[in-house]
Amino acid sequence: MNKIPLIKPYIDFKDVATDFETIFDSGWFTKGNFIANFREKISEYTSAKYCFATTSATTALYACLKLLKIGVGDEVIVSDFSFPATANVVEEVGATTIFADVSLETFNMLPSELENKITSKTKAVIFVDAFGNLSGLDAIKKICKKSNLPLIEDAACAIGSSINGVKSGNISDLTCFSFHPRKLLTCGEGGAITTNNPDYAEKLEILLNHGATVQDGKFDFVEAGYNFRMTELQAAMGISQLKKLDQIVEERNEAKKEFDRQLLPLGFIPQEKTYTGIHNIQSLVYRVPENYSRDELIKFLREKGVESTIGTYCLSGLTYYSNKYDCICPSAKLLQEELITLPCFDQVESLKVCNLIREFMEE
Ligand SMILES: Cc1ncc(COP(=O)(O)O)c(C=O)c1O
Repeated sequence: MNKIPLIKPYIDFKDVATDFETIFDSGWFTKGNFIANFREKISEYTSAKYCFATTSATTALYACLKLLKIGVGDEVIVSDFSFPATANVVEEVGATTIFADVSLETFNMLPSELENKITSKTKAVIFVDAFGNLSGLDAIKKICKKSNLPLIEDAACAIGSSINGVKSGNISDLTCFSFHPRKLLTCGEGGAITTNNPDYAEKLEILLNHGATVQDGKFDFVEAGYNFRMTELQAAMGISQLKKLDQIVEERNEAKKEFDRQLLPLGFIPQEKTYTGIHNIQSLVYRVPENYSRDELIKFLREKGVESTIGTYCLSGLTYYSNKYDCICPSAKLLQEELITLPCFDQVESLKVCNLIREFMEE
């Protein structure tokens, strides 16, 4: 029986073979034309003024916190329903992580939670576009603006999503993307930071390049910076996929419609989108109906050759965080237990997957 994977990568070796040959022939693997071009293309695509290519979303988020000089004694408010990297970077710079609970409908940070958690020590907010969904981002942006707090958008999953035609990357003060293979655009590993703030851009240029400035060909090292740069090969992969990104987003939305048509009557609850615009459907997630075990369903599907997985994590409930902080956000915890991610790609055999789900529910 042929297996149904969770995702199919959108990169094909044929897409990049010629570019790889060019890079190998030139022997120029870093800081070259492909990186410059990728940065330009991401800026063009998102309409953000500045773009920096990084090794991952994790290093992108970390660099943003360092750029803002956040450290010991500072608090950063983060969405509690996310991949651990969102909070890990706050811990890594020595600041205190403050968890804000999320909506049970959109899975994104609740504005009321954010307002309740702001203190005189708050230095930034990290809003997560859960599974690429931008619901609530506008409201969070207003609160940040009113409170004079920088808004970092963890858009690890959100490349291609937009509100009223304004793309993720051009909404928040700083936006961090991931190009890991589970994302719609992959460089193997990789990430990017976009911003419209020239001061942030100037500082990031230095921070991401070992703290170096160059004048008349002479280097000076003015910060204790990092090498968080992606390679030319990764950039070539990114450029080739950016061309088909909008089509990928359309295909995933089509696949979601078919799953919704079959699963909503069974009591599965989809992720709500509360804005006018595009959700890229980075992951196709549903809350499994009450009285059915999500974990048993994942196991059942696996035995039948269908790959599925959980949604993501309640960060405050992870061992490290629950040992350190005494705060578990109830909605994030519930979503960690109830959400299932189903296969989503063009031509996915949705009928077969949904029939298996029906079979599981009838057992
Ligand atoms: C919301 C979120 N933030 C951060 C990350 C980390 O991304 P990366 O693997 O590129 O470091 C992920 C990875 O899946 C993620 O989903």
